[in-house]
Amino acid sequence: MSTDPFAQFKAVQREAWALFVPIAASTTPAAAALVEFAGAAPGQSVLDVGCGTGVVAVTAARAGAHVRGLDLSPVLLEEARRNADLAGVAIEFSEGDVEALPYPDGAFDTVLSQFGHMFAPRPDVAIAEMLRVLKPGGRIAFSTWPPEMMIGRMFTLVSAYLPPPPGVAAPPQWGDPATILQRLGDQVRDVEFYREEMRFPALSPRHFIAIMEQSAGPVVKVVAMLADDPLRLAQFRDEFAALVDKFFARNIVHQSFLMTRATKI
Ligand SMILES: C[S@@+](CC[C@H](N)C(=O)[O-])C[C@H]1O[C@@H](n2cnc3c(N)ncnc32)[C@H](O)[C@@H]1O
Repeated sequence: MSTDPFAQFKAVQREAWALFVPIAASTTPAAAALVEFAGAAPGQSVLDVGCGTGVVAVTAARAGAHVRGLDLSPVLLEEARRNADLAGVAIEFSEGDVEALPYPDGAFDTVLSQFGHMFAPRPDVAIAEMLRVLKPGGRIAFSTWPPEMMIGRMFTLVSAYLPPPPGVAAPPQWGDPATILQRLGDQVRDVEFYREEMRFPALSPRHFIAIMEQSAGPVVKVVAMLADDPLRLAQFRDEFAALVDKFFARNIVHQSFLMTRATKI
């Protein structure tokens, strides 16, 4: 019997994120940016937390690193293994939780997470684990969604319709540099931030929403919850469309994401 107070929340997340495969095409270029920003070098041991379909893990392995990837979703891990095979790289992928990493202290030169650890319910637990498995002098680097950008605001909208259980931190908090500095605390030095653009192709704001409804875990959940309430579902979609419209131009949803890197003391 699990002693994790968020076991049920994570079980729901595991199921909801399983549909993410089509969206990984959009996180693939961002993975290259994060691996470069982190300075992952040949021969280094690298962990990709919340690896999904392995976009960061495969990119780091192709750059010559020895990589492990971890994710809640066994469905996404199967896709990650296929992607590693296609790339001709050997990566050990494991099912697991960033709040309880199955690795010894100081096991990695670099710990990465692209839009992954930000979904753990307890940021302090997640970051403590990521820093625990990092060697002193090693690099932690992650990409997150700023609260004022489209995806950050999408998560805020989803939470208004489907509030998370008590004690679950809002994911877009991880996109705020002041919050990140506070969460990294005095275990790191040389914290640096950098913003990159992400471009998501879509034919219209409603087309983008349809893609999110099929593949983005939190949106999948809210739409399922509203299935028997057509008026409220229509209201959610209208609010979502008004938001996407602000970021939509020339068949692209444009927005920036935040990359953070720091060195463990
Ligand atoms: C937005 S997807 C990002 C996937 C991948 N890193 C990418 O950039 O394409 C979020 C990922 O975080 C994973 N995730 C969510 N909560 C997690 C947790 N507590 N521990 C490990 N992985 C988690 C999900 O299963 C999902 O694969």
